Amino acid sequence: MFTKKMEADLNDQIVREMFSSNLYLSMSSYFESINLRGFANWMRIQAEEEFAHTMKFYEYILERGGRSIIGQINAPKNQWDDVLDVYGEVLAHEREVTESINNLVRIAREEGDYATENFLQWFVAEQVEEEANVSDVLEQLKMIDGKGAGLFILDRELKQRVFVPIATTK
Ligand code: FEO
Repeated sequence: MFTKKMEADLNDQIVREMFSSNLYLSMSSYFESINLRGFANWMRIQAEEEFAHTMKFYEYILERGGRSIIGQINAPKNQWDDVLDVYGEVLAHEREVTESINNLVRIAREEGDYATENFLQWFVAEQVEEEANVSDVLEQLKMIDGKGAGLFILDRELKQRVFVPIATTK
């Protein structure tokens, strides 16, 4: 059974995913402004992924006969101290998103909504991967203290990242 509460809570997640997309696009723009084009590329793809997550929730709600209500999305920050500051914030943000996904799983279980619980498992796995990817970049940044030739090399490496579309229900 797809309750109104489950529908509303999934709609709240749409706002979180859209905020994430805007936050990462804002970070991408910040990197462009300090000429770190590889980091800007990595972050732009991150923003695209978050929009794809948004659409996955959007389509699932429709599929269950619900209605997607797009709530208010707050403006993201647009300035950071440096590249380490940005990635530290991304990791903290992704940990919050993981917590919100876990909370949705808890609610789906409480409601006996096994279809939604099953749908959310994709996001449970995705969050493990997202946190690992961000930690990976953050650890490399710490090794090079976020500057110098190492930063230049890492920037070139992150330029290689490409967007891989994810499967949605449509
Ligand atoms: Fe959609 Fe990065 O969580």
